[in-house]
Amino acid sequence: MGEYDKSQETRHLREVHTYVLRAGRMTEAQKRDYAIHSARWCLPFQETILNFTDIFENTNPVTVEIGFGMGKATAEIAANNPDKNYLGLEVHRAGVGRLLGEIERRGLTNVRIIEFDALEVLSCMVPDGSLSAVHVFFPDPWPKKRHHKRRMMIRPRTDLIASKLAPGGYVYMATDWEPYGEEAWMELAMTEGLKSKYEGFAPRQAWRPETRFEQKGKAASHDIYELMFEKLPREG
Ligand SMILES: C[S@@+](CC[C@H](N)C(=O)[O-])C[C@H]1O[C@@H](n2cnc3c(N)ncnc32)[C@H](O)[C@@H]1O
Repeated sequence: MGEYDKSQETRHLREVHTYVLRAGRMTEAQKRDYAIHSARWCLPFQETILNFTDIFENTNPVTVEIGFGMGKATAEIAANNPDKNYLGLEVHRAGVGRLLGEIERRGLTNVRIIEFDALEVLSCMVPDGSLSAVHVFFPDPWPKKRHHKRRMMIRPRTDLIASKLAPGGYVYMATDWEPYGEEAWMELAMTEGLKSKYEGFAPRQAWRPETRFEQKGKAASHDIYELMFEKLPREG
């Protein structure tokens, strides 16, 4: 068992999903790309710990992106960083189809996808202390109070994320929903082993491409809030 404690409380939160699966429409291109390319770039969910060296055929550092949506940022970041590996997690099949198309068009070899609940993937498949980064760009804000328990960036979900980071690794979140940004900052600050790299919100990281949901937020005149927390070395 890793640092992440599968206690009753934890199990309860795992049963409350951070997403709602809607039967969203896929474009013909997304359907085609999914049909042709998923066997090559998607990994099945399974309750077995992954061996990243075997999967990526190298020992480069691995970043997990939770909820990549249409994969715009994923593909661009991966293309700009061929010496790093990216594992994208998303439950929305249209987005998986879209990212598969981008992987092929750009000739990327450093991206893999798992179409499954990111929390289950982290819990069951990702080795503790193995990630150099976790990206969470514009997670669903769940603005209604009764839905706050569905938010991704609250404990013990942040404990799980922290347990998968290597010392010196970081979790980087961006949101256009200020109250969620503030809550997530406090939750991450209270997560054992994490420390903010900045006193408050982080400055925009120049390398982070604008995402679809960021565009929507800006169109609604929302400001963008960025959070960057680092995994501290183990004590003792
Ligand atoms: C608001 S969208 C943001 C998408 C993208 N990152 C962007 O900025 O455009 C949030 C995405 O997270 C995905 N998501 C939420 N919870 C998830 C989970 N537990 N596992 C995988 N994907 C999840 C949703 O399906 C959705 O596509």
